[in-house]
Amino acid sequence: MPAFNSLPGFREFYPEDQAIQNHIFDTWRKTATGFGFQEWEAPVLEPLELFTEKSGEEIVRQLFNFEDKGGRKVSLRPEMTPSLARLAAARAGSLRRPVKWFAIGENFRYEKQQRGRLRSFYQFNADILGESGPAADAEAIALAIESLRAFGLGETDFRVRLSDRTLWFLFLQSIGIPEECAAATLAVVDKLERLQPDDLLKAMEEALAGSPANPAEALARIRGFVAQDSLEKLAAFFAGSGPVSEGIQPRLADWSALLERLAAFGLSDFISVDMTIVRGLAYYTGFVFEVFERDGDGRALAGGGRYDALVKKLGGPDMPATGFGMGDVTLRNLLEAKNLLPAPPSGPDYYAIALAPECRSASLAGVAALRRAGIRADYSFKEGRFGKLIQAAEQAGAKNVLIYGPDELAAGVVKIRNTGTRAERTIPIASLVPELTKTFP
Ligand code: HAM
Repeated sequence: MPAFNSLPGFREFYPEDQAIQNHIFDTWRKTATGFGFQEWEAPVLEPLELFTEKSGEEIVRQLFNFEDKGGRKVSLRPEMTPSLARLAAARAGSLRRPVKWFAIGENFRYEKQQRGRLRSFYQFNADILGESGPAADAEAIALAIESLRAFGLGETDFRVRLSDRTLWFLFLQSIGIPEECAAATLAVVDKLERLQPDDLLKAMEEALAGSPANPAEALARIRGFVAQDSLEKLAAFFAGSGPVSEGIQPRLADWSALLERLAAFGLSDFISVDMTIVRGLAYYTGFVFEVFERDGDGRALAGGGRYDALVKKLGGPDMPATGFGMGDVTLRNLLEAKNLLPAPPSGPDYYAIALAPECRSASLAGVAALRRAGIRADYSFKEGRFGKLIQAAEQAGAKNVLIYGPDELAAGVVKIRNTGTRAERTIPIASLVPELTKTFP
C-alpha cells in the first residue's frame, strides 16, 4: 500500500460527501433533540480495560488497541456504550432520571472491510438511563424508528426485529440448559441463520459441554422457540409447554406493555417479533432489537437493547439502561439506493466581481457587509474581463452576480445580475445591504 493512501476501511470525505454526512448528523440530532434527548461526547481513545470486560468477545477481537508512549494499554473506541456508562456512573447521584442522552461519534473496529462494514464508522447513540420498565424501551425504539423516518424512509423500507434476552434466559432454563451455559448458547443462536446444520450442532455441543443437556434436542427446541413470531404465539407456546419457569408470565406482560406503547405511537407496522435476534454484545439483559432494511439481506442499520448491569459494573449504583446505536454506513447506502440523499449544496446567493483593480475595494466592502448581514456572499480573487468573471460566478453556483465596474463605481451604484434569467438591475452602493436583505431570500 503506498504510504499516502488512507488506511483500509477508513474514509475520506470530499465536500460533496461531507455535505451528505452533515445531512445525516443534522437529521439524527434534530430527531433526538425533538424527543428531549441531550447530547454528550467522550474521548475516542479510552483505556483498553473499559472494553475488554464489558463488551464481549466479538468486539474485543476487533479492537484497535495499542500501548501509548506512557506504557498505557489503550484502544480507540469500538462503541460508545461503555463510555456512556462510565459518565453516568460518575454522576449517578445527581442526574435527574430518566436520563435521556444521545451522541454522534466516530467508532473504530478492526474488521474485515466489506459492504456496510468498515473500520471507521459514525454511530448515532441514544440511551435512556434510570428507568427499568418497558416505557424506556418503547421510547428508545420509537426514536430509532422516527430518526429513520425523518430521512423519508417508511415501513416498506425497514423494520425493527424485536427480541428479548430475559425471555431467552427463561426459555433456556425451562428446557434444562444450565445458567452457566446460557450465554454460550445464545452466541450459537446468534449464528443460527449463518451456520450449516453440522457446524451448528458442533457449536451447540461446545456451548453445552459438561452439562447434561442434549445438544441436538436443545437445538430442536430452540428452533421451535424462534418460530414464534408474535406475542400471541409466544404466549401460546409457553402455555402449552407444561410447567414453565417462574417469571415467564410477568415477562409476557412486559411485552404487552412495550407493544401497546409502540402501537400508541403508531409504530406497530415497523415491528416484527423475531427471537433469532440475541445481539453479540455481552452486556444486554432484556429487550434487544436490530433494525434491518425490509427486503434484502443487508447488514443492520441499528442495534440496541437493555443493559441493566453495565453502570454498576463501571462503579456506579444500580442504574438500568436501554438504548441503541445506528451506523452511518448502512444508512447512507440505503438512502442512496432509495434516492433519498439531498441535492448537493448550492453556491452563494451573491458573487461579487470587480472589472478593474480600482473597483476592488468597493466590491470587497460590499461582500464583507453582506456576510455580516448573514447573506451568503463570495467573490473572485482576481479582477478581469466581464465574460471570464461571469463564468467564474456561474461555476461557483452563484444565484446572483454583483458587478462592480468603473462606470458603476463612478455613478455610485452596483449592478445585480440574476445568473438564471440574466435580468439585471442597479442599486446604489450605499443601500446594498438594506436592499438585499429586503429582497432576500
Ligand atoms: P452494534 O450492533 O455493535 O451495537 O452497532 C450498532 C450499529 O452500528 C450497527 O447496526 C451498524 O449499523 C453500525 N456498525 C457497527 N459496526 C460497524 C462497522 N464495522 N462498520 C459500519 N457500521 C457498523 C453497538 O455498538 C451498541 N453499543 C449499541 C447500543 C447503544 N446499545 C445500547 N446503546
